[in-house]
Amino acid sequence: MIKILLSGASGNMGKAVTRAVAQNPDATICAGFDIRTEPTAEFPIYDDLCSVTEPVDVIIDFSHPSMLDRILDYAVSKKIPAVICTTGLSAEQVSRIQYEAKNIPIFFSANMSLGVNLLIDLVARASKILEDTFDIEIIEKHHNQKLDAPSGTALAIANAISDTVSYEAEYTYDRHSVRKKRDKREIGIHAVRGGTIVGEHEVLFAGTDEVISLKHTATSKEVFAVGALKASFFLKEQKPGLYAMKDLIAAQ
Ligand SMILES: NC(=O)c1ccc[n+]([C@@H]2O[C@H](COP(=O)([O-])OP(=O)(O)OC[C@H]3O[C@@H](n4cnc5c(N)ncnc54)[C@H](O)[C@@H]3O)[C@@H](O)[C@H]2O)c1
Repeated sequence: MIKILLSGASGNMGKAVTRAVAQNPDATICAGFDIRTEPTAEFPIYDDLCSVTEPVDVIIDFSHPSMLDRILDYAVSKKIPAVICTTGLSAEQVSRIQYEAKNIPIFFSANMSLGVNLLIDLVARASKILEDTFDIEIIEKHHNQKLDAPSGTALAIANAISDTVSYEAEYTYDRHSVRKKRDKREIGIHAVRGGTIVGEHEVLFAGTDEVISLKHTATSKEVFAVGALKASFFLKEQKPGLYAMKDLIAAQ
């Protein structure tokens, strides 16, 4: 039985993780952490990590970037593995995750769905073949409550392309601000926000007289919750280090 401390327990993803754990007899949420301490029947939710007295095997975090330091302080001081799923982190915060991964196992992925991670792999392969003659643009769509833009996943896709192509890629977020033709090295990244769209990522390879499109659509948040739970089981068995979805897929 794995005992989970759920950070962001009162949020949408916190609730999705609670539902996923309820379906899994080998997992339980022993406590939650959130600034909104809505009571649940299943476990207590604290607004201060010092109040957590329950034994914890792993932390799952779907909350807010402003919570990251507190979560890492707690995880490192107690030597508890952490699955960090919150997006919109600064470069300094990502550096701290990399640093703390020397002390504890940390799983960090902007997108916990298996399908998106396959999309990233396919996009990298396509970029290698198409880079000379195709323009690459990324379009992501999310619900109107999402705080960060572009999505962490769109940036992960852009980074995978940038790592693959032979030229120095430039990310273009805002075509509105500059009036000039598209440069070959650009990767356009576009964020659409509206309604209840769970998450859509499309990569366009636009060539002469032909367009290839690779697209992933998430129709419910449960895919991310199930992925985070799988990552928890995986991470509990690991030595200190930084892990990502590709490690989980390789271990299957
Ligand atoms: N990695 C992935 O696969 C993945 C998938 C979905 C969402 N996310 C990310 O997870 C995060 C949460 O998403 P959500 O849809 O559940 O958002 P949400 O707004 O519904 O929930 C966030 C929760 O965090 C709490 N919170 C916010 N600021 C806080 C603070 N300063 N201190 C303590 N608690 C605070 C809120 O009270 C809320 O309950 C976002 O960053 C989102 O982008 C990641």
